[in-house]
Formats: sequence, C-alpha cells, structure tokens
Amino acid sequence: MSLTPIGAPRQKITSASLHEKKLRHEAITCLTAYDYASARLVDEAAIDIVLVGDSLAMTMLGHENTLSVTVDEMLHHLKAVRRGVKNALLIVDMPFGAYQIDARDGVSNAIRFVKEGGAEAVKIEGGEKRVDLVRRVIDAEIPVAGHIGLTPQSVHAMGGYKVQGKSLEAIEQLMRDAVTLDRAGVVCIYLEGIPREVAAMISQEVRTPTIGIGAGPDCDGQVLVFHDLLNLSFHPAAKFVRHFGDAAAEITQAVQAFRADVQARQYPSDEESYHLPKETAQALEMVLERKRSLRR
Ligand code: KIV
Repeated sequence: MSLTPIGAPRQKITSASLHEKKLRHEAITCLTAYDYASARLVDEAAIDIVLVGDSLAMTMLGHENTLSVTVDEMLHHLKAVRRGVKNALLIVDMPFGAYQIDARDGVSNAIRFVKEGGAEAVKIEGGEKRVDLVRRVIDAEIPVAGHIGLTPQSVHAMGGYKVQGKSLEAIEQLMRDAVTLDRAGVVCIYLEGIPREVAAMISQEVRTPTIGIGAGPDCDGQVLVFHDLLNLSFHPAAKFVRHFGDAAAEITQAVQAFRADVQARQYPSDEESYHLPKETAQALEMVLERKRSLRR
C-alpha cells in the first residue's frame, strides 16, 4: 500500500477513483470543510474527499444540531469551499428539509448544489426509505453519497445521538439499507455511529466504498469533522474523535499575544508601519515648522 506524499502531483479524485481505491484496499480519506481557507488546506494535504457537511450548523453557526441549516446557507459555504478545492471530490450535504417533502423538491435542490455551488455529488441521509429519491437524483446525472446508521437529521426520531445497529433486527435493516444504496449506484456510503463488526460486514458486502465515522477501522475510508480533528468544537468529544492537533490552544495563544502586545504598545513596530517618501516627509516637516514659527 502506498501513501500519497503531501505536495506530490495529484490527479482529480472522481467516483471511479474511489472505487479503484477500494479494489486496491487503499484507505480513502475525507474531511469536512466549510470555508475557503479550510478547503485549501484540506485539498492541498491530498485528502480524497472534501465534504461540506451540514455539521456546519454547529461548527460554523453555533446551532445545537444540524436541523436548522438551510439550502441557502449550505450553498453560501459550498461556494467558498468550491473556490478552495482543486483535486478532492467535492460532496455537499442535502440539509434537513431539502428532500423530505417530495422527490421533485429533492432533485431540484440537488441541481442547485451542482449548478450554483459547484458540488460534484450530494449526500442524502437514509437507506431503503430514500432510495427512490436517490435513483431520481442519479437519473438527473448527479452522483449521490449515501449515509446510514446514526443519521444526525433523525436526532429526534432516534431519541438522541445513539449508536445504531445493536440488535439483529437493526443489523439486518442496516444491511438492507447499504445493499439497496449500493445497487442504486451511490458513489460511497457514509457509515456513522454503528458497531465495528456491523461496519466491517457492510464494507465487505457492498461494492461501493464505505466511509466510516464512529464505525471502526474496517471501513474503506474514514471521515472526521474538521473542527473535531483540530479541537475546535467546544463540546465534549465523542468516543471516536481523535484530536490530531490543538488549534484552540494555538489560536488562544496567538489572540492573547496580540492583546498583550497592543496593550504594551509593542504592536505594530516601526518596521510594521508604512512611511512617507523622504521628499514628502521633508516637505511636511517644512510646513509644520512654518506653522510652529507663526504661532511663536
Ligand atoms: O455533516 C457532517 O459533517 C457529516 C459527516 C460527519 C459524515 O455528515
């Protein structure tokens, strides 16, 4: 198995390249991004998929869950991310309310994400229950990513954020969801908050790549929320979250250093200031001197 060195020339990631990675047993990487800066950093670090997740409702907008974010808000963030992504596959979440009313509505919102926001695929939560919509969106030439298990848009229906697929019945349903989405031709399936053993079985069963979050190491790839990766989330981390960096500490330290230097009048320095051209400075000094002498 080969690791892509950071900075090496990269090829555009497509649905086909994700499937090839699965065949080669190469782990697929995915991170969320919600603005231009994070999108550039993630893309330039050779991550395969950039997901504009509806988790931006919490990470960027400070909401309690994903339910309130709108199609227009998602589009606003997607457009910024689009400008920062070159090689990664760009997937956007269909937010709550964008596809639950009817399929026509769902297809037309998916078209907006591609046409106005530049998305290359849309992610839709739900398995068997959503497969008609998934087929219609694919029929409209828009690739779809599935998302099953702990689907955050169903938080009230699930009675909280609970690990799914713990009974035999629930495992069978998850397997049916995965197989149905696979047969419908999805680009990949996100498996969230399910036991490792179940995620492993699903990953073996379906041809399409599985991308896990809280689903153990046997998925074909892994996704993390950018703010969780960097410890920028302001809430207790879920069991599966690993902080790969501590941006909160770095940012706090930088902000406090700015405050201290401004208060001590050590920022900005003379070198950090703009200066008048020599002749203008001399002319200005002469004007000021004339004014001073008139006042004497
Ligand atoms: O919204 C999101 O960030 C997601 C991932 C956690 C899969 O759906």
